[in-house]
Amino acid sequence: MDGTDGVLELIDQRRLPVEFITLLVRDTRRLHEAIRTLAVRGAPAIGVAAAYGPVLALQSLDADATTVDGLKAIVEACDFLATSRPTAVNLFWALDRIRHKAQKVCQHPQVTLGELHEAILAEANAIRAEDIEMCRAIGRHGEALIRDGAGVLTHCNAGALATAGQGTALSVMFEAQKKGRSFKVYADETRPLLQGARLTAWELQQAGIDVMVICDNMAGWLMKEGKIDLVITGADRIAANGDAANKIGTYSLSVLAKQHEVPFYIAAPSSTFDLSIADGAEIPIEQRESSEVTRLAGTATAPDGVAVYNPAFDVTPAQNITAIITEKGVLCRPDRDGVLAHLQAPDT
Ligand code: MRU
Repeated sequence: MDGTDGVLELIDQRRLPVEFITLLVRDTRRLHEAIRTLAVRGAPAIGVAAAYGPVLALQSLDADATTVDGLKAIVEACDFLATSRPTAVNLFWALDRIRHKAQKVCQHPQVTLGELHEAILAEANAIRAEDIEMCRAIGRHGEALIRDGAGVLTHCNAGALATAGQGTALSVMFEAQKKGRSFKVYADETRPLLQGARLTAWELQQAGIDVMVICDNMAGWLMKEGKIDLVITGADRIAANGDAANKIGTYSLSVLAKQHEVPFYIAAPSSTFDLSIADGAEIPIEQRESSEVTRLAGTATAPDGVAVYNPAFDVTPAQNITAIITEKGVLCRPDRDGVLAHLQAPDT
C-alpha cells in the first residue's frame, strides 16, 4: 500500500491467489468501493488505506479552492469513508486522526491549502509507518509462544495483506520462523470469502512456512487429534473488557480451544481497541450479501431465493482468550483493568 504521487496503490485482494494485481485509487468513491468489496481488507489495512482518502479528496478540489473548502472536503471524505464497513474500529480510529489533524492545522489563521494537504498526507504516512512498526513489535512479543514442532491454527487472514506491515497473527509466525523454529500452520479456509485459503495460505507458502489448508468444520477434530498446540487470530475490534470481534468462526474456535485446553491468542495493535465500548455486545457486526454464501466463484451452491444469514464477524468473550498480543507486550487473561493498564504502559 502506498500513498505517494497522488495515487493510492493497493493490492487487489479479491483476485488472489489467482493473480497479483494492484489497484490505482484516485478518489474517495473508488476507495470506499475498494474497502466495501474487500479489495483492501483486514482491520489495520482498512484503517491505513482510509487515512489516505481525505488526501485524495483534497487533490480532487478545483484550482481556486480555499483552505475552508479543503477542511470541508476532508470532513466529508471522513464521514463518507466511515460508512464503508462497520466492524473494524481501525477505520474510524484512522479517520478521526486525520480529521483532528486537519482541524488543528486549520486553527492557524494563515494556513494555506497546500500546507493542509501536506499535514494530512504526513499524518496518513505516520499512521502507515506506525502500523508497520506495531506489526513487527507484535511478532517479537509473540514469537516465543510458537515452539519448535508446534501445530498452529489460524483463521481468516491477519498477515501482511491485512496490514501495512508484516501482519499481526502471521507476524508472530514470521518472527518464530526467523528464530529458526519449524512448525506447521493449519489455515482455516474461512467461509464464505475464503481469506484463509486464498490469502493466508498464499502468504505462508511464499514465506516458506509449512501450511495446510483445512475446511472450517475440521478444526475441532484436529484439536481432538492433538494436532493443534495453539490458536492465533487477529481482531477487528476489542472492547474495554477484552471481548474481541474477529472474522465469523473465531468464536467457535475459541469454544473448541477451551474444550480441548488449547491456548487461544489474539494478536492486534492498540489501534484495534475501542475503549468507548464496555463489552463485545456493543460491537456492530457487519451483515453482508447473501450471494457470498449462495455462490462460489459465480456458481450457485444453494437454491435460488433461499434465506441466508451472513454475519461477517463474531465476538469471542474475553474469558475464552488466553492472551492478547499487542505492540506493547502480552496481556494474559484480559479483563477491564488489565486492558486499561496494558494500553497505558509504554511500548517495549
Ligand atoms: O472481512 P475481512 O477480511 O476484512 O476480515 C478480516 C479479519 O477478520 C481479520 O482477522 C482481522 O481484520 C485482523 S487483520 C490483522
